[in-house]
Amino acid sequence: MDYSIESTSLEKLQCDCIIVGIYEDQQLCPSATALDNLTQGMISKIVGRGDSSGKNGETVLINIIPDSRIESILLVGLGKKEPLSGKNYRKALFAAINSLKKPQIKSIACTLAECEVTTGGWQWKTRQIIEVFNDGIYQFTAQKSDKTTESKLQKIAVLAPESETASAQTGLLQGQAIAEGINLTKLLGDLPGNICTPAYLAGQAIELGKKHEKLTVKVLEESDMAELGMGALLSVSRGSRQPAKLITLAYQGGEKNARPIVLIGKGLTFDAGGISLKPSLGMDEMKYDMCGGAAVLGTLLAAAQMQLPLNIVGLIPSSENMPDGNANKPGDIITSMSGKTIEVLNTDAEGRLILCDTLTYAERYNPEVVIDLATLTGACLVALGRVASGLLGNDDGLCNDLLGASEAANDSLWRLPLWEEYQELLKSNFADLANIGGKDAGTITAACFLSSFAENYRWAHLDIAGTAWRTGQTKGATGRPVSLLSQYLINRANA
Ligand code: BES
Ligand code: MN
Ligand code: ZN
Repeated sequence: MDYSIESTSLEKLQCDCIIVGIYEDQQLCPSATALDNLTQGMISKIVGRGDSSGKNGETVLINIIPDSRIESILLVGLGKKEPLSGKNYRKALFAAINSLKKPQIKSIACTLAECEVTTGGWQWKTRQIIEVFNDGIYQFTAQKSDKTTESKLQKIAVLAPESETASAQTGLLQGQAIAEGINLTKLLGDLPGNICTPAYLAGQAIELGKKHEKLTVKVLEESDMAELGMGALLSVSRGSRQPAKLITLAYQGGEKNARPIVLIGKGLTFDAGGISLKPSLGMDEMKYDMCGGAAVLGTLLAAAQMQLPLNIVGLIPSSENMPDGNANKPGDIITSMSGKTIEVLNTDAEGRLILCDTLTYAERYNPEVVIDLATLTGACLVALGRVASGLLGNDDGLCNDLLGASEAANDSLWRLPLWEEYQELLKSNFADLANIGGKDAGTITAACFLSSFAENYRWAHLDIAGTAWRTGQTKGATGRPVSLLSQYLINRANA
């Protein structure tokens, strides 16, 4: 996709479609007024007739404009004439791109960065336009014979006056970088478990390393893990024919000795549950159990593209969780890299097992902070649905920074408590701790389990089980929380 900032006047624009905003009560955005004047009042006629009420998300495509070189105009309803909330702004943008997926449209010019939004200025709005349009255009066709359904859009121009082109340009670069990261995350998520294996994920990381000078990639094999004593991680992969990988990516954008931000992503490429086998209905969706890992790859890609002046380490423990004669059994006791012993009461609580050794491994980077992301618990869906990711952590400052970033990025997060009382639920009669805490507070007990391995640094955990993919008709990976993490990193770089 070719993205650009244009400050050309509307009558000189070269594109297939100009997107302009209208409010309720027949109020027009400045560009809509300008186009109205260029088209002998066509827009005010349409609005006056009541063909578009201006409600947020309503669109009208005018695709023949007599006596004009403008091919078509898309009117996008923004709602009441007042500054839009970030959420409503994105809603209007989604409506716009969804009505422009028509195959014949190759280039669009979007004037919606001129709308007033409470959350940000030209930089923020430009970035949102690119993120949302990119999201709307994405289609998984990698495994489809018919590629003709792919969007034909090639050019997206964001209109900005000369005085704002610098901020818009920064927003454009950020938006492009984040959009690329999101695309990679979605593609890896959507790929099936027979293609996207631990080795495949490792290969993707190695490819990223080749593209960016400041990004070095190393892959630990099972023999390396055995030497490190990663008994928890290895206990999960022993039931699988696919060897586990621990993928490490180091991005050196900051000063040589600056402590890194460590991002850890669960990279479970298929979760059958192991001997505690999952029910078959919807089991296909467990190919998405590597979305945390994919989001780490996507975020590092975005950070590298933005050339952020930070040091960031990505760690992705990757494995399958399968039933097998050699698999973990309920009741087995394993020894983690930290030395703590774990009683495996349910082999389906495997995410925390591959993460706990990675949390211990992270200590060697002397991290500034550690953030892990994982499709960890079905309980998170029960608690928060598909709207917000769960946030838990041992440091208020870090949690608040993440909440702030989530708001700015429109990528919702909600914090849950990590009180000591919950830790009781993980007691085991036979080992240092059990890998499950019973029926209650599943998201919290999972995070409590992880917290025992994150005692030596500032740490936060994002449970993305409800937000990493959509089910139903629009089943597919969402790319969350790449936007939120990118925002967190941008904020850190500016601090
Ligand atoms: N990958 C799943 C969590 C999950 C479930 C994500 C449904 C998205 C939708 C995880 O490995 C798991 O199986 N967790 C168990 C934990 C339980 C055994 C304590 C769960 O949530 O049922
Ligand atoms: Mn599981
Ligand atoms: Zn899982």
